[in-house]
Amino acid sequence: MSELRNYVLDSTDITSKLDFKSIFGNNNPVEVDVGCGKGRFLIARAKEFSETNFLGIERMRSRQANVNKKINRHGLENVYLTGLEASYVVENQIEDNSVSVYYIFFPDPWPKRRHHRRRLFTATFLDSIYKTLTYNGCINIATDHSEYFDVIYEILSGDERFAEVETFEPEDHERTGFEITFMGQGLQIGRCSFEKLAKPAVLS
Ligand SMILES: C[S@@+](CC[C@H](N)C(=O)[O-])C[C@H]1O[C@@H](n2cnc3c(N)ncnc32)[C@H](O)[C@@H]1O
Repeated sequence: MSELRNYVLDSTDITSKLDFKSIFGNNNPVEVDVGCGKGRFLIARAKEFSETNFLGIERMRSRQANVNKKINRHGLENVYLTGLEASYVVENQIEDNSVSVYYIFFPDPWPKRRHHRRRLFTATFLDSIYKTLTYNGCINIATDHSEYFDVIYEILSGDERFAEVETFEPEDHERTGFEITFMGQGLQIGRCSFEKLAKPAVLS
């Protein structure tokens, strides 16, 4: 069997910004799948939108390996992965105004109250998302956990830097692994999408 090419970015240099131009070899728009899991959505989108670059953030090694195999199998050149912790990557490694879309699908809900502080989505995390999104860039959320959905929705809808837009709904073949499982259990999925508002005009 031929050797797999490694699409997981080197994480030894954690202090430098990710240089999308040199990673992807072009200036195409970049979309980020935060906690991409086994990559069902990421791979489907990358196959469909070859003029868009995709970065998957996934800290679980076995899942990274799984996605890496799929990238190789489909011969994709527009997907890379990073294995570092998502809030660190968004806060410290992604350039300002450089991401056109974030997808955060089924983030771990940490349902016990004493574990809520482990949740990824917080007002501070949204600050990093805001900073790194392009103007009119979007953030798309999906979760089966209604209480976590309410928390996320409240943070987003209460933030004047964002406006709610038409909710992103994946095509059937793009549904994530967790989504397929939760839908099979008859769970209701909460979704919302918000756009980073255009730069305010400078008043003279
Ligand atoms: C519930 S799974 C959802 C996976 C995928 N989005 C889906 O819908 O099938 C959450 C994923 O996010 C990853 N993850 C959770 N917190 C993370 C973090 N802080 N940084 C990077 N990955 C994270 C987990 O390893 C896991 O694969």
